Amino acid sequence: MRGTALVLFCCVCAVQGIVRIPLLRLPTVRSQLRASNRLETFMRDHQPDIFQRTYMQCFPPGTQSLVKGRSIEKLYNFMDAQYFGQVSLGTPAQNFTVVFDTGSSDLWVPSSYCVSQACYNHQQFKAFESSTYVHDGKVFGIRYGSGRLMGIMAKELLKVGSIAVKNQEFGESVFEPGFSFVMAKFDGILGLAYPDLAEELGAPVFDSMMMQNLVEQPIFSFYLSKSKTYSTQGGELLLGGIDESLYTGPINWVPVSIHSYWQINMGTVKVQGVDSFCYGSKPCQAIVDTGTSLIAGPTNEITILHELIGATPTSVGEYLVDCQRMSSLPVVTFTLNGVEYPISAESYVRREVLGDREICFTGFTAVDLTTPMGPSWILGDVFLSEYYSIFDRGQNRVGFAQLRR
Ligand SMILES: *[C@@H]1O[C@H](CO)[C@@H](O)[C@H](O)[C@H]1NC(C)=O
Repeated sequence: MRGTALVLFCCVCAVQGIVRIPLLRLPTVRSQLRASNRLETFMRDHQPDIFQRTYMQCFPPGTQSLVKGRSIEKLYNFMDAQYFGQVSLGTPAQNFTVVFDTGSSDLWVPSSYCVSQACYNHQQFKAFESSTYVHDGKVFGIRYGSGRLMGIMAKELLKVGSIAVKNQEFGESVFEPGFSFVMAKFDGILGLAYPDLAEELGAPVFDSMMMQNLVEQPIFSFYLSKSKTYSTQGGELLLGGIDESLYTGPINWVPVSIHSYWQINMGTVKVQGVDSFCYGSKPCQAIVDTGTSLIAGPTNEITILHELIGATPTSVGEYLVDCQRMSSLPVVTFTLNGVEYPISAESYVRREVLGDREICFTGFTAVDLTTPMGPSWILGDVFLSEYYSIFDRGQNRVGFAQLRR
């Protein structure tokens, strides 16, 4: 009996520290706005800065601010976010649906003191109900496309799957700008990039997990499913390792070029086999970002790319293609550390139903993201749902492998 107990104990040891988090795939804010015919009005009327200035007065004078002046600042945009997972904060646990975002480093959820419209239809953190809550009181701000999200810092017990992180720094938002958060299917964001990108003091969630020895390896991996229907089986985040059942063949590793975003060098981008961007001596930069839905690039390049595809711009910055022409659209191929990653039209075109029509958009969008190594492309979910992706903080590299079909 003793022997059996020992064996069982060791089995538990072996699997401890590798945790599967199922991901949900749900409609994006953009598709909800489109379905209700509000997308154009929304894009036109987006003037939330007035609210932001007004709200600033709610913070007492002398409140210490963590809002940094930074030269590189990503304009976080979760209009197209579609993969979410569940975490909990506090004791007893309060559940939140979050975007696991490799393109940012902060954790925040709505506060029960939040008065923004966006907070009313989301889970709100009730500090007064938790016995593990530690008040901090510093102010944080994160800039989004539609204004600056603001809140108060605190520390809490965070649970992600079976992993319990003690004293995790996080933000409780008391002001959420713009209308896009109102329609969002998520309550908050859990950033998985490097500490350097954090707007908040303290360690990002995965850094806490590493410091508190809660993960077997300093690695996490994403599988984002392409299932056409929205479901609770939208993919998987594996914390602490790599899920070998989800990919085949070798992993192609790409070194991280700057430890802030998950930023890497990107080689030639080909359109139908022809070198079109990022060729020659100077590689491009790309960030690998689960929190961005599309593939983004500098405005000039994206404009040319759409000319090559034969897509037509709309008034809201999207590009339309003829749904009947899919088979004649070119393959777009990205090169990372010498390995080519082709994305076919079937993969980069998004189909949406509007009334009784089906409309088709490309999965490419213009975003001018500047980094210390120059303008950067963003490899978002359109790319990441084609390949298994592995984020290795131990060796500072990102790995890609063929998904098992
Ligand atoms: C939080 O989520 C867990 C796991 O899904 C569930 O068992 C629990 O009942 C939820 N708690 C609340 C308060 O909804």
